[in-house]
Amino acid sequence: MSTFPVAKIRQDFPILQQTVYNRPLVYFDNAASTQKPIQVIRAISGYYETDNCNIHRGVHFLSQRATEAYEETRNLVQRYINAASSREIIFTKGATESINLVASSFGKRYISAGDEVLISIMEHHSNIVPWQQMCLERGAKVKFIPIHDNGELDMEAFRSMVNEKTKILSITHVSNVLGTINPLKEMIAYAHSFGIPVLVDGAQAISHLGADVHDLDCDFYCFSGHKMYAPMGIGVLYGKEKYLEAMPPYQSGGEMIKEVRIDRTTFNELPFKFEAGTPNVEGVYGLHAAILYLQELGMENIRNYEQEILDYAIDKLTAMGDIRFIGTAKEKTSLISFLIGSIHPYDAGVIIDKMGIAVRTGHHCAMPLIEYYKIPATVRASFAFYNTFEEIDSMVDAINRVKQMFG
Ligand SMILES: Cc1ncc(COP(=O)(O)O)c(C=O)c1O
Repeated sequence: MSTFPVAKIRQDFPILQQTVYNRPLVYFDNAASTQKPIQVIRAISGYYETDNCNIHRGVHFLSQRATEAYEETRNLVQRYINAASSREIIFTKGATESINLVASSFGKRYISAGDEVLISIMEHHSNIVPWQQMCLERGAKVKFIPIHDNGELDMEAFRSMVNEKTKILSITHVSNVLGTINPLKEMIAYAHSFGIPVLVDGAQAISHLGADVHDLDCDFYCFSGHKMYAPMGIGVLYGKEKYLEAMPPYQSGGEMIKEVRIDRTTFNELPFKFEAGTPNVEGVYGLHAAILYLQELGMENIRNYEQEILDYAIDKLTAMGDIRFIGTAKEKTSLISFLIGSIHPYDAGVIIDKMGIAVRTGHHCAMPLIEYYKIPATVRASFAFYNTFEEIDSMVDAINRVKQMFG
């Protein structure tokens, strides 16, 4: 039996203390967004109670204190993901904005007609559409690495698709539909052997595996705060200095400039060159608290407990007989996508919800992947370290109810 202190941890999450439809809330929609511990909530309200102010350049006390906290969080993120310098840490709205930034800015600097961008069929729309848009503008082409039916990337196909036209590989660390953990180190080393930089979409990895950008040797890595127990509207783009220096600004305005004259502008140094306008300071305070919270729990402890939850869920659902899992890769994080017999996922989702359990049904912003499997949608249950074995049992009861009603 697990020794992970889940009961104590749950006390930190006020939202989990409630009932819905007269049942205890079971929250299995963590891949969409995680809940926030009281430490994060307090960090945000504390910011407004004592520190609220616009940052940078202000000489007064509040501005200096808020600026220090903001920049200290940048240093914390740098250490958390093991980046070489805080100049390589850019605060964004989230993973989507980070990818848009790279697609637009890297695209302008490095991509021309006839070039290729390599992504995979398992990407979230936010790692597809920005590349499609940029390629449309520049006359370049997006190519999709295929997968095997178990949800693992087809590595042979990947190797055959890399060529002298490939200008960047943009790949998810973990699939938000399949849970597959991609073999990034192997892919990055292979891309680098052709001189091709790699962006990693870490939106689904950061709260389960953490990230070590030095070890991965990726050129860009991005994630969203709200999927790692921090607030919405804050995220991170890590980029190697050599690329960030060479890339033009993404947005223009205050903060990203050094000097503005009526006929010309010079840009600020990194990372400010990519942070135009007033940033999300409260979000940064919350992100700081969330990282400290994760560090206190320990990423390895989190990983081990979530693996136990995942194994338990897979065993229980397998024993039910007519569950079809979508995504059975050997290396997976703690989410399961499935179909119950021939019952439409939306019908299943409505009944499961009425039993107090929040799962997600749909295409999960990965329509090309859903199309690949020739299915209408999936039911997705995605777990966090505050979920319990008893909650999995409740989901099994709910699935049995779905089967009684529609089977
Ligand atoms: C793999 C992946 N990438 C990117 C995103 C986009 O994240 P956000 O909407 O926070 O920018 C998501 C969100 O679900 C995701 O799962």
